[in-house]
Amino acid sequence: MPVKREDDIATTVVDRVTTENGELVLRCVGSHFEIISNGTFLMDTRDGQSERLLVDAAVDAAADAAGAAGLRVLIGGLGVGFSLGAAVARPEVGHIVVVERELPVITWQSGPLAPFSDHAPHDPRVEIRHTDLVAWVHAAADDAAGEVPSGAERFDVLCLDIDNGPDWTVTSSNDSLYGDAGLRALRRRLRPGGVLAVWSAAASPAFAARLAAVFDDVRAEEVPVRVPRGVPDVVYLAR
Ligand SMILES: C[S@@+](CC[C@H](N)C(=O)[O-])C[C@H]1O[C@@H](n2cnc3c(N)ncnc32)[C@H](O)[C@@H]1O
Repeated sequence: MPVKREDDIATTVVDRVTTENGELVLRCVGSHFEIISNGTFLMDTRDGQSERLLVDAAVDAAADAAGAAGLRVLIGGLGVGFSLGAAVARPEVGHIVVVERELPVITWQSGPLAPFSDHAPHDPRVEIRHTDLVAWVHAAADDAAGEVPSGAERFDVLCLDIDNGPDWTVTSSNDSLYGDAGLRALRRRLRPGGVLAVWSAAASPAFAARLAAVFDDVRAEEVPVRVPRGVPDVVYLAR
C-alpha cells in the first residue's frame, strides 16, 4: 500500500489573525492542527507527551511536598490545551489559572482545539486570563526595600510553556522571563514548597545553571520526540 507523505496531506488555513504580537495562524494538516506564530511553528496537536509531563511532574512534586489537595496551578501559555487537559485530570488540583496573551488561541479552545484539552475550559476549577505572562510575573518584583508586594498572587505549581524554550523565544519580549531577574520573580510567585516547571524543545545547560543559582533543587526530565533524529524535549523542574 502506498504511504502518504506529509507533503501530500491537505493543509488548510482555519484562521489567520493579526494581533499586537504579529500574525497567528491556525492550520489543519490532515487530522492535526498547527499554530504558527509570525511564520514560526509554535505548537501542534500530534504529540502532547512532554506538555502533559510539564504539569504531571510538577503536580507530583508539589503534592509530595505539601501533601496537599486543592493545589493552585498556573499554566503559562494555553497553546492547543494539552497542559491544561493534564491539570484538569489531576484530582489534587483545586484551581487552575491559564495565562494566555493571544485572544484567538483562547477562542480556538471553544472551537477546533476543544478536544485537545478534553473541553477543560468547562471545568469549574479553570480560569482563563487574557494577559501577558511576563508582565504578570514581573509585577511581583521586590519594592525598593526588597519586600514582595503583600497582595502578590502565589501558586503551588507554575508551568511555563510560552516559547519553544528559554533559548528560542517567540518574541523578544519573552526573553526576560528566563534571566536572573525573571527567575527570582517566578520564585516569588510560588507558595512554600511550590514547584516551577519550564518546557524546552532542547536542553539548555545555561538555563539550568541560572535556575540552580536561584532555586535549591533543580532537575530535568527528557522526553524523546517522534521526529527522526530530533533532540528530546526537556522539562526543567525547580523548587
Ligand atoms: C507552545 S504553546 C503552549 C503549548 C501548551 N503547553 C499546550 O499544551 O498546548 C505557547 C503558548 O504561549 C502563548 N504565549 C506566548 N507568549 C506569551 C506571553 N508572554 N504571555 C502569555 N502567553 C504567551 C502563545 O500564544 C501560545 O498559546
